[in-house]
Amino acid sequence: MKHKRILFTGGSGKAGRHVIPYLINKGYKVLNVDLQPLDYPGVDNIQADICDSGQMFDLMHSYANQGELEAGTGTPKFDAVVHFAAVARILLKPDNETFRINTIGTYNVVEAAVKMGVKKIVVASSETTYGICFSDGLTDPEYLPLDEDYPVNPMDSYGLSKVVNEETARSFQRRSGFDIYALRIGNVIEPHEYAELFPGYFSNPEVRRRNAFCYIDARDLGQIVDRCVLKDGLGYQVFNAGNDTNGMNLPNSELIKRFFPNAPLKYELDENEALFSNRKIREVLGFKEEHDWRNYLKDNA
Ligand SMILES: NC(=O)c1ccc[n+]([C@@H]2O[C@H](COP(=O)([O-])OP(=O)(O)OC[C@H]3O[C@@H](n4cnc5c(N)ncnc54)[C@H](O)[C@@H]3O)[C@@H](O)[C@H]2O)c1
Repeated sequence: MKHKRILFTGGSGKAGRHVIPYLINKGYKVLNVDLQPLDYPGVDNIQADICDSGQMFDLMHSYANQGELEAGTGTPKFDAVVHFAAVARILLKPDNETFRINTIGTYNVVEAAVKMGVKKIVVASSETTYGICFSDGLTDPEYLPLDEDYPVNPMDSYGLSKVVNEETARSFQRRSGFDIYALRIGNVIEPHEYAELFPGYFSNPEVRRRNAFCYIDARDLGQIVDRCVLKDGLGYQVFNAGNDTNGMNLPNSELIKRFFPNAPLKYELDENEALFSNRKIREVLGFKEEHDWRNYLKDNA
């Protein structure tokens, strides 16, 4: 069986270091393109800067390791590009740097992928596009649950960079006809963070209001990326990438009454159904959650 080759940017970060192992375990060959390497068996690393267009064009048509020289048939093609590299929130760098690196970097990666003929591209967008996470003061959502049809309107440089990146993806999709899917990723939770963080969240639920109580298990994010790579023919798509239920041990009736009393409900929700809706990935991609937080915090469930 031929293993699909994926060029993955930003794979050394919090999300990538779980998503890449998931993909490798599924049989993909992964080249991680990041400023720093990921130490994981089987992953190839090339250090490069997404803000350098020449580097991105070069890598889109590159060997991933010395072994690939052996066939003597030239550089093999990538089947997909997964683009996660970014400044991953506000307040890490000055706002203009966050905007520059995220928007120019995404333009460079998507342009190089499309022009070098990679027909499947998955781009990391963010829950922050909804404008609640990094708003000045508390913002009421226009409606709940937050779904992919919601009119995104962030007021911060990071969320804005992700809105621009979605438009970049949409524009290149329209021009090429390739599949480009943007994942509005929820708050990423690594396996060790359930025990470390969730008890504190349960004691102070207000700290999770800005995330609309969402979470995505980093390994479940791996499944979503895998399903995006496998699902062809959807053109440009936006998908919320979140788990099935809220990352909170309170029912929706109470969460909405306490934290979002002014938000109209678009439709009836199950008691624990995520306010950051993941219905679309379940219905369109066939996502099946494997890592409910309740598996890891049985006493709080
Ligand atoms: N962590 C979350 O909760 C969350 C939520 C929503 C969206 N996202 C998005 O998901 C993606 C991954 O997030 P993460 O939490 O793993 O972030 P992270 O900061 O842990 O990792 C980002 C990676 O990108 C690399 N990188 C940064 N600038 C680069 C550049 N110029 N060239 C090459 N590589 C560069 C970094 O070295 C790092 O390894 C990002 O696009 C982020 O915006 C994350």
